[in-house]
Amino acid sequence: MARPRFLLPAGALAALLLAGTAFAQPDPVPTRKEGLRRMQTNLEAIGAVANAGGDTRDTVPRSDEMVAFFRNLPALFPSGSDGNGSRARPAVWSDRAGFERAATNAVAAAEALRVSAGSGDAAATSQAVRAMGGACSACHRSYRSR
Ligand code: HEC
Repeated sequence: MARPRFLLPAGALAALLLAGTAFAQPDPVPTRKEGLRRMQTNLEAIGAVANAGGDTRDTVPRSDEMVAFFRNLPALFPSGSDGNGSRARPAVWSDRAGFERAATNAVAAAEALRVSAGSGDAAATSQAVRAMGGACSACHRSYRSR
């Protein structure tokens, strides 16, 4: 009988399996929590500069980061990622359209924040920070448990 030609030696197979583990997705729960805490830090830092009448243009990289983060937010909540100490409510997955709308609203608020901050208008930026905070709370009310 002919020897099977495409069989991998055992060592090569083990190496492939190990590589597979290395490429596995990181757990989304700690990843998104860390990201959300960072968004909190960004929002507070922008608010502090604006409320002190400082140069809000220096904070534009923070609002840029917020725009990018909230665009990607739904992807950080794949189905099945409700365990591991997550405080996400089941509605994140059962009312996906509403959850994504809340994320889209946060993107819009972050974009408006970036425009205000970029204009250097501290008063307008303070107002945009409050509006951004409203978009955070709106999502938390429906999709995060206490
Ligand atoms: C579209 C929905 C949504 C928006 C918008 C949103 N969040 Fe959240 N946030 C969540 C959910 C859901 C959780 C719970 C995540 C988990 O525990 O898996 C959460 C958790 C958090 C946490 C706790 C993280 C931890 O360490 O447990 C912080 C802080 C936070 N959000 C801050 C913010 C801030 C600041 C904003 C606005 C700038 C914001 N969030 C906008 C849905 C949202």
